[in-house]
Amino acid sequence: MISIAIDGPAGAGKSTISRIVAGQLGFIYVDTGALYRAIGVYALNCGVNPKDTDAVASLLKNIEIKLKFVDHEQRVILNGQDVSAHIRTAEASMAASDVSALPLVRTFLFELQQSMARGSNVVMDGRDIGTVVLPNAQIKIYLTASPEDRAQRRFSEMKQKGMEVTYEGVLKDLTERDYNDSNRAVAPLKPAQDSIIVDTTGNTLEQSVEALTALIREKLAKLGDA
Ligand code: DC
Repeated sequence: MISIAIDGPAGAGKSTISRIVAGQLGFIYVDTGALYRAIGVYALNCGVNPKDTDAVASLLKNIEIKLKFVDHEQRVILNGQDVSAHIRTAEASMAASDVSALPLVRTFLFELQQSMARGSNVVMDGRDIGTVVLPNAQIKIYLTASPEDRAQRRFSEMKQKGMEVTYEGVLKDLTERDYNDSNRAVAPLKPAQDSIIVDTTGNTLEQSVEALTALIREKLAKLGDA
């Protein structure tokens, strides 16, 4: 099985690019952030502070998460319910970042993520895929861009979806999340030693997709030759 790990900070274009690249290669695309988002939203809905280790620990006892693929689109199923439509808000992003700092949440999701890569060729995106979840991934990419560029992209996406947001608000949330995700004790966001760092600052989406596709194809061809 071939695994491609794509890590990086929020708004670097990981999910859009990973989805397109996976589609081109016929691999499945696994968005691991959605798993943390589902737990974060569940905590908020239960009135639980997503930073409260003990309270989140008791919630996890009642949670069963599965990933389902419908027309190649990943759906997150939490206790039998498809929660995919409810996990994209700004509150969900922050709650996901908060629960993701709790070691027990990371352990809880670890096996599910690994099992996805055992059964299929995958493009998996997240924060710790190349460093922790799939350390043996054949291709590891760390996708990044300037905070302003990332905030601008997120802002445009959210506006397009009709969400009430400001550029300043998005930049502030994104900077806070980057800080949380990079400074937590367990599995912090950082490039794997053997990753290729790709900075997409100033690129259009098409340019980034083209660059990534070319890079991955070159790597895959080398793997084939080896
Ligand atoms: O990729 P995303 O923005 O949907 O992720 C939401 C949060 O989940 C992110 O701020 C940190 C956390 N996360 C993580 O800790 N590890 C992952 N592999 C994926 C996401």
